[in-house]
Amino acid sequence: MQAFSSDFQSDLETLMRWRRDVRRFRTDPVDEALLTECLDAFLLAPSVGLSEPWRVIRVESARARAAALANYSAANKAALAGYSGDKAKIYANLKLSGMADAPVQLAVFCDEGTDKGAGLGAGTMPEMRRYSVVTAIMLFWLAARARGLGLGWVSILDPVALCRDLDVPDSWALVGYFCLGWPEEVADTPELEDTGWEARRGQLPIDVR
Ligand SMILES: Cc1cc2nc3c(=O)[nH]c(=O)nc-3n(C[C@H](O)[C@H](O)[C@H](O)COP(=O)(O)O)c2cc1C
Repeated sequence: MQAFSSDFQSDLETLMRWRRDVRRFRTDPVDEALLTECLDAFLLAPSVGLSEPWRVIRVESARARAAALANYSAANKAALAGYSGDKAKIYANLKLSGMADAPVQLAVFCDEGTDKGAGLGAGTMPEMRRYSVVTAIMLFWLAARARGLGLGWVSILDPVALCRDLDVPDSWALVGYFCLGWPEEVADTPELEDTGWEARRGQLPIDVR
């Protein structure tokens, strides 16, 4: 297959346009088969040296969820304290995670110590392993959105504490914590834009050298 149809190209653009970071979820469960379909997108991602360094923990137990939520709450409180004036007022009203109610929650890590790929491509820039994990997350995000599911990325966390609470191997670095579920609403604009926190650029800045 050399190219996809123009209808597909247009649908793909629509999918990317309507992908959102979702923080407000309905409480209905996500069907396991549907979740598996979305997670399978990880297996299609590019990775440096074919190292496939992504590692996923499904955060299910009440204990693990409570630890993650407490971690977020503390980090978010500290982040708020770093703002003042109008930014502090807006920040205080932002909802920056769906961790209190998302039916599926995943912590995604990069295995910095993996032998897979024998280090190809990561010698001078070992951070490429983490970037590889991000590419997989992006595919997962689009696969979820294509099925009507919403995904929210949570980074307002103490990674060391989360790794300890989830008891992951020392070589794993946290890339993100993800909330997945049926979104309360759909939108084609970011919530941070709607709330006046920040606006998207209308144009891609490109310099020529
Ligand atoms: C690496 C990364 C970390 C993020 N962390 C958070 C977060 O902790 N909380 C949150 O509400 N949104 C988080 N987001 C979502 C961004 O705020 C969101 O992508 C941006 O506002 C644009 O909105 P959109 O994704 O709906 O287009 C994160 C996104 C990325 C890519």
